[in-house]
Amino acid sequence: MTDKKIIAVTGATGAQGGGLVRAIRADRSGPFTARAITRDPTSAKAQALAALGAEVVQADVDDAASLRRAFAGAHGAYCVTFFWAHMKPEQELAEARNLAQAAQQAKVAHVIWSTLEDTRTLVPLSDDRMPTLGGKYKVPHFDAKGEADGIFAEVGVPTTCLVTSFYWDNFIHFGMGPKKGPDGTLAITLPMGDARLAGIAAEDIGKCAYGVFQKGKDLIGKTVGIAGEHLTGAQMAAGFAQALGQPVRYNAITPEAYRGFGFPGADDLGNMFQVDRDFEKQMCDARSLDVSRALNPELETFAQWLERNKGRIPLG
Ligand SMILES: NC(=O)c1ccc[n+]([C@@H]2O[C@H](COP(=O)([O-])OP(=O)(O)OC[C@H]3O[C@@H](n4cnc5c(N)ncnc54)[C@H](OP(=O)(O)O)[C@@H]3O)[C@@H](O)[C@H]2O)c1
Repeated sequence: MTDKKIIAVTGATGAQGGGLVRAIRADRSGPFTARAITRDPTSAKAQALAALGAEVVQADVDDAASLRRAFAGAHGAYCVTFFWAHMKPEQELAEARNLAQAAQQAKVAHVIWSTLEDTRTLVPLSDDRMPTLGGKYKVPHFDAKGEADGIFAEVGVPTTCLVTSFYWDNFIHFGMGPKKGPDGTLAITLPMGDARLAGIAAEDIGKCAYGVFQKGKDLIGKTVGIAGEHLTGAQMAAGFAQALGQPVRYNAITPEAYRGFGFPGADDLGNMFQVDRDFEKQMCDARSLDVSRALNPELETFAQWLERNKGRIPLG
């Protein structure tokens, strides 16, 4: 038996939850122990977490009863939903309600809800600078999360809303890495104009979340935004050029052009970047670098993230 407090972590085999499980396990003398939640405890990723010393339990965010079992006895719960697994904001809202209710029934003392802005507070549906998607969203994968902040409040669980940022890891996993143009020069393509984008090493989200659990009740009922740096497209291109040792340009395109790329979710991401561009100050101010570093002293800069990952970035 352990006298440590259990933190139940959804998405434990993924980017955010994985970072949190690793942060908890890295602090062996700390007050917490990790319960990694996965749909498949036998998977290689789940087994890797078990090898780190995490308890591994099965649950699915679409199955409320499984979440109640997974949260039972936990002091804390890290709650994240997986928009890109289904791309349905209504499903994300239902999953958030399952998470909040399971935490409430298990009497979890501190929930972290991984959220993003409801962009409709910045760009009402009547604003035609960008299309309305799915009949009632501007940026579906943001809006449903922001709307779900209210679900955690309504259900009455002690919650910190953790506002995350664009993962620099999207340059590895999301097809956003530098690609060769007609002249053979590498370029990153973003519809951000000269605006700064709040970005973060995905692994740092979990480390910041660990900091939130350590601060405990001081942050319950609060919204905390995190980022590693606020960088323009030109600054990110310069960072790539430095890390890769070859020229990398910033190819600034319009949000319309980005929406027209046609891959699933291109319209959602085009709208997202347009909000990031048009509301640069609000989006960056909502993600304080000082607060992030206070929560996670190991917070990486883009240059540090590039140095660690440059060998993994596919160069098209
Ligand atoms: N990419 C970005 O820049 C960015 C920035 C901010 C926020 N986000 C948000 O981050 C969220 C995803 O978090 P992430 O990147 O940490 O996820 P991820 O790396 O894609 O991993 C998610 C993990 O969640 C598990 N999972 C998937 N569906 C599940 C379900 N129905 N029930 C329980 N577990 C499930 C999977 O594990 P098992 O297979 O082991 O169950 C998977 O390993 C999305 O909602 C996205 O909008 C992304």
